[in-house]
Amino acid sequence: MEAIKNTVNEALEKLNLSGGAQAAPAKEPTEEQLKDLQSKYEKAGQEQVFAFYDKLNTAEKAALFEQLSNFNPDYINEITERALKPAHAESTETKLEPLPESATSSTLDTAQDDLDKWYNSGLELIADGKVAVVLMAGGQGTRLGSSDPKGCFDIGLPSKKSLFQLQGERIAKAELLAKKKHGKDSVTIPWYVMTSGPTRKPTEAFFEKNNYFGLKKENVVIFEQGVLPCISNDGKILLESKSKVAVAPDGNGGLYLALLKSGVVQDMGKRGIQHIHAYCVDNCLVKVADPIFIGFSASKNVDIATKVVRKRNAKESVGLILQKNGKPDVVEYSEIDDETAEAKDSKNTELLKFRAANIVNHYYSYKFLESIPEWCKKLPHHVARKKIPHVNTETGETVKPEKPNGIKLEQFVFDCFPFLSLEKFACMEVKREDEFSPLKNARGTGEDDPDTSRLDIMTQGKKWVQAAGATVVSEDPKAGIEVSPLISYGGEGLEFLKERTIKAPAVIESED
Ligand code: UTP
Repeated sequence: MEAIKNTVNEALEKLNLSGGAQAAPAKEPTEEQLKDLQSKYEKAGQEQVFAFYDKLNTAEKAALFEQLSNFNPDYINEITERALKPAHAESTETKLEPLPESATSSTLDTAQDDLDKWYNSGLELIADGKVAVVLMAGGQGTRLGSSDPKGCFDIGLPSKKSLFQLQGERIAKAELLAKKKHGKDSVTIPWYVMTSGPTRKPTEAFFEKNNYFGLKKENVVIFEQGVLPCISNDGKILLESKSKVAVAPDGNGGLYLALLKSGVVQDMGKRGIQHIHAYCVDNCLVKVADPIFIGFSASKNVDIATKVVRKRNAKESVGLILQKNGKPDVVEYSEIDDETAEAKDSKNTELLKFRAANIVNHYYSYKFLESIPEWCKKLPHHVARKKIPHVNTETGETVKPEKPNGIKLEQFVFDCFPFLSLEKFACMEVKREDEFSPLKNARGTGEDDPDTSRLDIMTQGKKWVQAAGATVVSEDPKAGIEVSPLISYGGEGLEFLKERTIKAPAVIESED
């Protein structure tokens, strides 16, 4: 991967997009190097980042120089300005419509024959080594409040499995299903795990400690997304300490640049990957490398496909996948008026017209990921107003603000959807109870918290074993069954439970 990275970094320099996490610096810069960099920051009106430089020791000077060399201050100014004053193409001309029927499908009402066809073709692509998985796990999980990366979180299942383990085991099971069905010696679904500055090391250590959840280490590629400087409300780059710029991960849309920069796209190319499933770490029900979704997307010959769930009601605060001015797009709940949110489907007035709730669960063609350099500079940045601890560059004091004092710049993973024409985009509606239960909040919140995650897995398992002909008994009607992903990927292969009685809560971890 190292040779790949060097080539990629050269290409990125040409795009003026280098920046983000780099190796530790070696030594203090020469006077000339320092002058060059200082003048770059001065010209951009960002000279305050050198306020304490002369008083730093050698290692600190080297570290700050290295960190500042990795950013282009003109580019930072440019994206800040654009994020603060987005061009208002919006206004009255914005036309929203659901995606065309030809681009959508719903597993809620698709004929079993079609589902079987997609499943079989998806499994064949997996068996042929053409499918990879990308996990977005660079978020800091502030609402959950755990000090570990979210993927390490134990949601309270009887097995105590973490989110990472559930996902790793589903990959192993999908490999096994493909291997058996197609009589292969071995099948690999490479797993590319995107981390960030705060999550990389603990994620690597967790995978190592858990033996990569039974997967081969060389097929699990942990990479890191970039960071961007935090900016004050008056547009200045903030310092976290006298020798360090305050930085934050560049949002889940940092995925694209990170895929390129870390050599993942090239690695996929070398492995012959054609179809990619990307998802968020916080969804405990995610069907990783779902053969049905892969088969569906490949059959549509699209560049991006998304899974959606049905919006619960007009008021639910979810982003919607739709077409905006004739292009695929996502519109946030805060961006549509009540009339649009409440509009009914003219073909079935029981349903909302706009009901495709975004769950950030995507398919990408390899070709699309190869085209990242052509469009990544167009991906906008969004402003997140935050309380950012920093050093006052005039007084040298550390400030811990009580109200938002600056902005973090974030890219959104779906902002590239409008770069595609409608024919290159598809959408598959899936059952929420089968596929979507995000872990966002701390225990006790009652919504999208560890208890709802656990309950959704246990309820799904119970449904599966009952469908396989087992009887579940329990004093607690809410007690469910945890079915190990190594036993069943999506409810299949549980015939051995027929006519058995199982006392819930229980774990089905082996066929005995
Ligand atoms: P969220 O926006 O829900 O953020 O991320 P989060 O970090 O999980 O939680 P909060 O908002 O701090 O409480 C949705 C998905 O995008 C990933 C997250 O890891 C999660 O899978 N993500 C988010 C990244 O990979 N990088 C980022 O910079 C931000």
